[in-house]
Amino acid sequence: MENIENAPFLREMVDTASNLYRLGWDERNGGNISYLLSEAEVADYLDVNHVLRRIPMDFDGSALAGKYFLVTGSGKYFKNVAKAPAENLGLIRIAAAGDGVEILWGYSDGGVPTSELPSHLMSHIARLSVNPKNRVVMHCHATHLLAMTFTHDLDERAFTRTLWQMCTECLVVFPDGVGVVPWLIPGTNEIGMATSDKMKETRLVVWPHHGIYGAGETMDETFGLIETAEKAAQVYTIVCAQGPIRQTISDRQLAELGESFGVEPKAGYLDLVRED
Ligand code: 13P
Ligand code: ZN
Repeated sequence: MENIENAPFLREMVDTASNLYRLGWDERNGGNISYLLSEAEVADYLDVNHVLRRIPMDFDGSALAGKYFLVTGSGKYFKNVAKAPAENLGLIRIAAAGDGVEILWGYSDGGVPTSELPSHLMSHIARLSVNPKNRVVMHCHATHLLAMTFTHDLDERAFTRTLWQMCTECLVVFPDGVGVVPWLIPGTNEIGMATSDKMKETRLVVWPHHGIYGAGETMDETFGLIETAEKAAQVYTIVCAQGPIRQTISDRQLAELGESFGVEPKAGYLDLVRED
């Protein structure tokens, strides 16, 4: 068996957790990541028949039965992931009945997967139903996005339009916009259901006064998605501090941008008729 700490998927996870910490988006134990892996990827590094521990789940994960995920640990600090991956991360498989997880590696000090596992697994189910290539769900406390949830209208269309207007690349990176759920208790099935419901239509979901969820095919793509939205929120913060907006990207220009890059802005989010 090869050492799992050298596995490409593990290195990606470690790098991403370190970057999220470096950027200040995952203070203390803030944030969590789950990475869907194939059995073939995993089998080079561990005996898939050797279950270390079993943990029950009180929601139905049967749509993911038998699937493998690398998941950050609950209460673990992202700043520590690089120096102690086996303590701060774990590799799990969803039990055949969908009612628990089997730990195959990691959480070496007796830890458990993130408390946000319901939101992660439900979001994976939602994204896989739209795009079978989805593999990553990422949650962090991106500073400026979080701040925006205090000062900006929480209407999804309004929130999305502001982000699209702040950096030209935004519409190209997330033409499906951002979803916004109500304020809900973290770690619950309820916030999991609300988040995954939005994930059927968008890959970015804002949790007001808490943070953001992103989903994507690869670790880089998902990180880049959150990074792009967060950059737009940072620009918005600076723009608001500088004073009234004198000019912005028009809806006509956003439509042209979408056409030029071959992406479809979320239906109804641009006011084209009113501008003509
Ligand atoms: P965990 O430490 O359980 O992953 O929780 C962190 C967090 O960000 C909760 O939303
Ligand atoms: Zn959080």
